[in-house]
Amino acid sequence: MLGGEAGVVRLVDAFYRHMDTRPDARGIRAMHEPDLASTRTVLVLYLCEWLGGPKQYTAQRGHPRLRMRHAGFAIGPAERDAWLACMGAALADVNAPPALQAELMAAFFKTADWMRNTAAA
Ligand code: HEM
Repeated sequence: MLGGEAGVVRLVDAFYRHMDTRPDARGIRAMHEPDLASTRTVLVLYLCEWLGGPKQYTAQRGHPRLRMRHAGFAIGPAERDAWLACMGAALADVNAPPALQAELMAAFFKTADWMRNTAAA
């Protein structure tokens, strides 16, 4: 429904474009490397797998263990919400059908909320 792998690539490009430019994402942008190229590639692999596509993420990087992989970054409600704001804007940019946007945002909220490892805002 997102347009296959090309659609996921468009979504992830839009996501990091927002992370790069939104004032409310400055904090989470600073957690990432200056060059987002490799992170972008990994998120494409992850989302393709998570959305039911080929299991390339697991093949290349093993079990996602996302909470553990995020343990080194202080993630509280503000960081969660900034991540979700970038993804919400990206889904709108790629013109995902509204029902799909709502369904994906509900799922992303659960994952992002589960990643919280600090109460600090
Ligand atoms: C809640 C707020 C979040 C913050 C602040 C955050 C931040 C980060 C950071 C700083 C990295 C490391 C990037 C790098 O190594 O270059 C990362 C990696 C990653 N994040 Fe997040 N993230 C968040 C939520 C999410 C969510 C909700 C998902 C999935 C839906 C996700 C999926 C990933 C994946 C797949 C990786 C790469 C893991 C790997 O190295 O294999 N993140 N994230």
